[in-house]
Amino acid sequence: MIEKKPQIIDNFGRPHTYLRISLTDRCNLRCFYCMPEEGIELMEKPSIMTLEEIIKMTRTFRDLGVDTVRLTGGEPLVRKNFGYLVEELAKLGVTLKLTTNGIVLDKYLELFQKIGLRKINFSLDTLDKAKSVFITKRDYYERIMRNLNMALDMDMDLKINIVLIKGVNDNEINDFIALTRDKKITPKFIEFMPFKGNKWDWSKGVSKEEILKTVGDKFGEIETLDNPKHSTSTNFRVKGHKGSFGIVSTITNPFCDECNRIRLTADGKMKNCLFANSETDLLTPFRNGEKIENTILQAIKSKKYSRDGMDVKMDAEHYEQNRSMISIGG
Ligand code: GTP
Ligand code: 5AD
Ligand code: SF4
Repeated sequence: MIEKKPQIIDNFGRPHTYLRISLTDRCNLRCFYCMPEEGIELMEKPSIMTLEEIIKMTRTFRDLGVDTVRLTGGEPLVRKNFGYLVEELAKLGVTLKLTTNGIVLDKYLELFQKIGLRKINFSLDTLDKAKSVFITKRDYYERIMRNLNMALDMDMDLKINIVLIKGVNDNEINDFIALTRDKKITPKFIEFMPFKGNKWDWSKGVSKEEILKTVGDKFGEIETLDNPKHSTSTNFRVKGHKGSFGIVSTITNPFCDECNRIRLTADGKMKNCLFANSETDLLTPFRNGEKIENTILQAIKSKKYSRDGMDVKMDAEHYEQNRSMISIGG
C-alpha cells in the first residue's frame, strides 16, 4: 500500500497548497501604503534564510502538498543571486509565480521564459509619472513602464496590482480599464489594507462597489467572470474588451472561505494568514537539523477562519501588532 503523505490542513478542513515566500525585506521603492514613513528595522543578514535554505524548505512544503509558490519581497528581484534561486525552485515541479515592482525585471525575462515562469503580478499604482514619484518616493517611472511593455511583448501572463487610495489614484481606475480594450492585461484593483505603521484609515480606501460603479458609469455593461477556486480577486470584463480586471476586496468582501495560503517570511517564520500576529519559527529548528514537517502541520491548526480573527472589522490593536507589509510581501 502506498502511504499517503500528510497535507497541511487547518481546523476548518482547508488544505493549504499555496506558499508565498518573501525573499527579502529590502525594496528599491518606498510606497507609503507599504513602507512606514519612519522606515523599518531591516532584518540582520544572518537571520535571513540563505538560498539553499529557501530551496530545501520549499521542498519540504512541496512534499506536504504545496503545488504553487509565489515569490514576493520587499522586492524579490533585489535578492542577490535571484536567478540561481528561481532556476533551482523551478526544478521542484511547483507552479512558480512572482510579484514585483518591475524595476529590474528586464534582467530576468529571458530566464523566466526558459524556466516557464509566466505569471507575473506587476505593482503599478499609477500611469502618471509625477504621481509615481509621489507614491514610490523614487523616480523609476520610465524604467518601470519600459519593463512592463517588454513583459507584455514577451507574452507573459501579466496582472497589474493597483492599491487604490482616494485622492491619489482613484481617478485613474478607468485609465487602467481602457488598457484592457485591446491588450491582454489584467488590472487588479486592491482595497487598501491595514498593516503596522501604514496609517490605515478606510476613509482613504476605495471599495469594490465604488470601483464597479466607476467602471460601469463610463464603459457600460460589465460581465462577471468565473473565479478560479482560491482566487483573491473577483473577476470582471467590460463587454467587448480583450482583457479582464479583478478586485481584491479584503475589507468590504473578504474571501477567506476557501483560503489555501500560507506565508514564509524572509527570516523563516511561517504565517498562517496575511493578518496573523503570531508566527511559527521554522528556520531555527531547521538550522538545528530538526525535522520541521510536524511543526508546519501543527502550526496550521491555529489558523483562524478569516482575517486572523478580525471577522467583523479591522482592529488597530490587532493589525498594529502584525508586521509591516514590506516584510510580509502581500
Ligand atoms: P494571484 O496568484 O494572481 O491570484 O495573485 P494574488 O492576488 O494572490 O497575489 P499578489 O501578490 O498579486 O497580491 C495582490 C493583492 O492581494 C495584495 O494586496 C495582496 O496583499 C493581496 N493578497 C494576496 N494574498 C492574499 C490573501 O491570502 N488574503 C488577502 N486578504 N489578500 C491577499
Ligand atoms: N494594502 C493593499 N495592498 C498592498 N500592497 C502593499 N501594501 C498594501 C496595502 N496596504 C500590495 C502591493 C503589491 C502586493 C504584493 O501587495 O501593491 O502589489
Ligand atoms: Fe486567507 Fe487570511 Fe487572506 Fe483570509 S485574510 S484569505 S484567511 S490569508
